[in-house]
Amino acid sequence: MQIGIDKLSFATTPFYLDMVELAQERGVDPNKYLIGIGQEKQAVVPPTQDAVTLGAAAALKLMTPELKKRISTVLVATESGVDNSKATAIYIKRLLGLPKFTRVVELKEACYAATAGVMMAKGLVAMDPQSAILVIGTDIARYGINTPGEVTQGAGAVAMTITANPRLLELDQVSVAASDDIMDFWRPLYSENAMVEGKYSTQIYIDFFLQTFRRYQEMTGRRLADFDALLFHLPFTKMGKKALDALLGDCNDVNSRRLRSALTASQLYCRQVGNLYTGSLYLSLLSFLQNGQASAGQRLGLFSYGSGAEGEFYSGVLKPGFANQLNDVSVDLASRQQVTVDEYEKMFDSQLGLTESDVSFETSKDPSPFLLSGQVGHQRQYQVNK
Ligand code: HMG
Repeated sequence: MQIGIDKLSFATTPFYLDMVELAQERGVDPNKYLIGIGQEKQAVVPPTQDAVTLGAAAALKLMTPELKKRISTVLVATESGVDNSKATAIYIKRLLGLPKFTRVVELKEACYAATAGVMMAKGLVAMDPQSAILVIGTDIARYGINTPGEVTQGAGAVAMTITANPRLLELDQVSVAASDDIMDFWRPLYSENAMVEGKYSTQIYIDFFLQTFRRYQEMTGRRLADFDALLFHLPFTKMGKKALDALLGDCNDVNSRRLRSALTASQLYCRQVGNLYTGSLYLSLLSFLQNGQASAGQRLGLFSYGSGAEGEFYSGVLKPGFANQLNDVSVDLASRQQVTVDEYEKMFDSQLGLTESDVSFETSKDPSPFLLSGQVGHQRQYQVNK
């Protein structure tokens, strides 16, 4: 049975910060951010958005009345969860108006968890081929004002359906996952911001990529010539280049040129949004499909990485008509509003975060489909934006 991604969509916040303005404010050469890190813009999160509202907004883009009836399970991957007990997926299910008889759960392993969701969904579809599994990766990447990680912040969500006879990407049978207890990036329960050993994390990322890819090659016999693109989790766009360079070295043959050009296409959206954590790899996929030389029948390799650490390399084959199964990300990005560094810092400091008190947010400036209007009696208040 063919199983894979049937539809894929993306949502982000309505605001962004220009990285040249951030560099100037921080007294850094803008080329460090633009070239050294490879980021141009960063999604800025108003207090009225969180992992729930972003995840629901991404999923809304692929909903139809027929699909709502077919979804048996909602798997929400996030490391920006809003409760230690209750799953983000329950709120999202309610905001989307999905039926009562739906299984919902939240998954966590840093940026890797959406890929765990895809693999679990594959198994669920194999058991019940009529069903569709909704997999969402939704996050807010926060390191803190004036930290080395600040330029790699970002926010947004991807949503996808995994089904039999998929219309976007048919997944190959072999995938290689690897894990190890490593302290490269973590966020203790009492902290709103991630803690990170930045340079160490980039090295671990590369190690996991090379190890999982080589094992995949041993298991399948596939070589670079078999791939039309290698797509990466992109915490910042330069990270994808570092990983591909580690594989290709200074080789300049036809395969290397094809993979480098595909990487450039896959980086375009990340460069405008920043790190999405769980959703990042799938935004790279969207970016390649909408900006690269993608065509039906191509085999794509996907490398998922989550600090802590876990990596997985897997692959799939593009289906005819795949372009109709995506939302147009460039339209979303063009409709965002720029904010100043001062406005970004105010929004950064006004998140609900670990606050225990009742809070009411001004919602009128946020055009997103779902809003967090505040907190009452320790309960987050979500609403549909009419
Ligand atoms: P830094 O201190 O800014 O690093 O931290 P740097 O001073 O070495 O500069 C970065 C690059 O800019 C260097 O290039 C410089 O040469 C270059 P590289 O050697 O890396 O190729 N540079 C310039 N280039 C052009 N013009 C200039 C200039 N000046 C300098 N004028 C770091 C960078 C990424 C470490 C930091 O931002 C950070 O800690 N980020 C967060 C951690 C991260 O993203 N890690 C990635 C791997 S781990 C991962 O992907 C998982 C994650 O998504 C979390 C999860 O799983 O949940 C993060």
